[in-house]
Amino acid sequence: MPAPRLYVDSADVDAVSPLLSGSLVHGVTTNPTILERAGRTVADIPELYARWAGEGAREIFFQAWGDDEAALERRAREILALGELAVVKVPATRVGFGVAARLAREGAPVLLTAVFTPAQALAAASCGIRYIAAYLGRMRDAGFDAVGDIARMQAACGDSATEVLAASLRTPDDIVALAEAGVPTFTAAPDVLWAALAHPATDDAAAVFEASPSLAS
Ligand code: G3P
Repeated sequence: MPAPRLYVDSADVDAVSPLLSGSLVHGVTTNPTILERAGRTVADIPELYARWAGEGAREIFFQAWGDDEAALERRAREILALGELAVVKVPATRVGFGVAARLAREGAPVLLTAVFTPAQALAAASCGIRYIAAYLGRMRDAGFDAVGDIARMQAACGDSATEVLAASLRTPDDIVALAEAGVPTFTAAPDVLWAALAHPATDDAAAVFEASPSLAS
């Protein structure tokens, strides 16, 4: 399996900053719901891009929107024009698939989002789309064998250039279960990432080190 890679799934700049500036994550992923949760709108996209680029993000994901193909593609191109760190997310709808495939054919970095089935993953890989976002938590809520199906997505992508980006992760164990199934790339909310990084037993051990008389100078 390639080296694991973590992204933060949030538009809360105060929550994203420490993860980016500490080089703990590779980049930032967002969607309209995530913007809304952070009290942001699409009007803030250029400002967020500039901020996260300055904080060291290596990839920054924003989602295109629009009822029809022309609107979706226009916004996708506007997102790509933000700069070389931008990756555009497009929902894996009939319309979205067409836009994503066309942009991918031009070599643009595209993520097909809200992918629920291995067949969708296979189709994305056949179109050369860079990433698919698989929604573990929502798949589980809907009664899918979520870990098993995401492992099948990974297998469907095979040696293609398409990577599975696991999303809708609710606990550190979700990340580990997927890694054990061969999926190396994850995006998660800041609290899930911190829960994966820290543990009370580690804090206890660190407190004992700090209290050691050997530190007296
Ligand atoms: O990146 C996808 C994510 O935002 C969906 O997660 O927690 O709303 O199911 P959730």
